[in-house]
Amino acid sequence: MNIGIIGAGNIGSALAVRLTSLGHSVYIANSRGPETLQDLAQKTGATPVTAQEAAQRGSDILVVTIPLEKIPDLPKDLLADVPAEVPIIDTSNYYPMLRDGHIPELETGDLTESGWVQQHLGRPVVKVFNNIFAEHLEKNGTPAGTPGRIALPVASDDAAAKQKVMALVEELGFDALDGGTMRESWRQQPGGPIYCNDLPADQVREHLVRLGSERTEAQHQEFLANHAKAEQAMADQGIKLK
Ligand SMILES: NC(=O)c1ccc[n+]([C@@H]2O[C@H](COP(=O)([O-])OP(=O)(O)OC[C@H]3O[C@@H](n4cnc5c(N)ncnc54)[C@H](OP(=O)(O)O)[C@@H]3O)[C@@H](O)[C@H]2O)c1
Repeated sequence: MNIGIIGAGNIGSALAVRLTSLGHSVYIANSRGPETLQDLAQKTGATPVTAQEAAQRGSDILVVTIPLEKIPDLPKDLLADVPAEVPIIDTSNYYPMLRDGHIPELETGDLTESGWVQQHLGRPVVKVFNNIFAEHLEKNGTPAGTPGRIALPVASDDAAAKQKVMALVEELGFDALDGGTMRESWRQQPGGPIYCNDLPADQVREHLVRLGSERTEAQHQEFLANHAKAEQAMADQGIKLK
């Protein structure tokens, strides 16, 4: 496949390594320009391009994997010529303390994190890879049937795009689980039980069922509080996200 990746940081690089090794053609962009991506190109065989070129040349799948706060900086016409059937993967997470500042719709819970992203992009997105560490995404994929294989939920309002992305998740070495609609994608957000815990399919399924579909105010507050604690612990360890 021809796969565009906008964002060449932890997740973009991990995906570039794996996708090129599987034989896909990868076109990858950052904010500073293709000339700054020569090392990554040498390491992976991915082609460095601008964000606009990644959107054009990623004719099978486009991945947007930049910090949430930078989403509004993307060119407004970025996806104008991208055919509707090309899945747009979003890997975003909201880190208000360490990176993104306060975004009202995410604080109130009126929108899910990827719901906010798709509003900015003007297109349905497919939420996946947000709940696995980049290093695990690069190194911990295993063949189907391996005991303990990590399962990743995939959420979207676009059923066809979701199926295509679920097939890619399997190819990368993870059990792909239907994570429901964009409105239900809160279940894989930070502060919840399936965020970065590398759980196998039966456990992820159990959590999805137990959490339910519609987020309650109590669940929203619980996830926010858990994530605030996690962010504080990261800050205490000197971890910086920008
Ligand atoms: N790190 C993880 O393990 C992990 C796991 C799951 C999900 N996530 C989520 O995935 C997203 C990306 O995380 P990350 O850790 O990969 O980020 P990162 O390492 O900080 O990398 C961000 C990348 O985005 C690029 N970028 C920023 N603004 C851009 C723009 N306007 N146009 C094009 N490229 C732009 C940056 O380019 P420049 O360097 O040139 O500015 C950089 O290559 C975040 O929402 C994060 O929360 C991260």
